[in-house]
Amino acid sequence: MIKQFIKSLLGEKNTQRVIRLKSSVEAAKSAWRSFGNTQPEKSSLTTSLLISVHMLEKASVIGNVKYLGAVKYNDLINKISRLIEMGVPPEDFSIAESVAIIKSTLALLSGHEDAKSQLEALISKHNIPLNLKGGSEKIPSAEILKHINFDFHGFVSSRHSVRKFKDTIISREKIYDIVRDASYYPSACNRQPCKVYFSEDREKIADIIKLGADGFLAAGIHDCLIVTCDRALLKPYELDDQEYINGGIFLGYLVMSIHAHGLGACLFQCTRASIGKQDRIRRRFGISGSEVIVCCIGIGELEDEVSCACAQRRPVETVAVNLDS
Ligand SMILES: Cc1cc2nc3c(=O)[nH]c(=O)nc-3n(C[C@H](O)[C@H](O)[C@H](O)COP(=O)(O)O)c2cc1C
Repeated sequence: MIKQFIKSLLGEKNTQRVIRLKSSVEAAKSAWRSFGNTQPEKSSLTTSLLISVHMLEKASVIGNVKYLGAVKYNDLINKISRLIEMGVPPEDFSIAESVAIIKSTLALLSGHEDAKSQLEALISKHNIPLNLKGGSEKIPSAEILKHINFDFHGFVSSRHSVRKFKDTIISREKIYDIVRDASYYPSACNRQPCKVYFSEDREKIADIIKLGADGFLAAGIHDCLIVTCDRALLKPYELDDQEYINGGIFLGYLVMSIHAHGLGACLFQCTRASIGKQDRIRRRFGISGSEVIVCCIGIGELEDEVSCACAQRRPVETVAVNLDS
């Protein structure tokens, strides 16, 4: 009532301006809050370690010996050591992967004896597992192209957003299979900042749907995922775009993976403007303040017949724009 009155006083155009201003202020406040949360030493150390070692991997792919030779390996090893001192378990993925990358890079270089023995000492002191691959590898192109002979056009064009499902909950095994496949998405400096939250508990799922799905579609949705992107894995200058770039790419893979596993899905907007919605979801499920909620996804088994939007695609020439003509 009061909202309607204010709207009529302001007019449609000014109301929209006020809404945009309000959401910008809320986004800035939330960004400031989560930026503060994301910068404690452990998380900024992990981020800078991951960026450095993934740069190493890229340099070793192109055999940039000058770059590889100039890296301060002792600093990187000290960072790993510091993280372990701070309580990060030696078998943690970031630790084990960083060690694998540094070890394989050092093996390419002559000299650097100090760093080599410092690394070996760290590995044996903390029993760091050496079960992960790191550095670069040569893969025959035939291996890379082995799986391209399938009907890709048929696969992508037969996916449709599904907004009404059978009343079932997707098992955790199936969710793990779907997310495992989606995790092959490319991410900036391979930091893999995205996560998927799910539940098998009807009450919790009902809350995800209530908080995350489109109100008028909620009746047809019986299971729903929350997709986040962790700003703690980004550098300050990357904040406010990389979370949505990496998040968006992950969503694309996830939606395709859901389709490949024989289920339907529909994405539900959770933009930077919907800060209130993001806060409510984070609070309800104890999701860290450093994670932005990129999207919620209704997921489920298909009914015998599915009602879909026609969702016509634009002509390809208007999307792939030829700069020569
Ligand atoms: C980022 C994003 C947000 C979306 N949000 C919604 C939404 O809130 N509600 C909805 O019904 N569909 C939503 N969709 C689904 C789109 O409407 C749908 O993908 C588009 O119409 C193309 O149709 P198709 O997916 O069936 O090919 C969203 C899609 C994306 C990529």
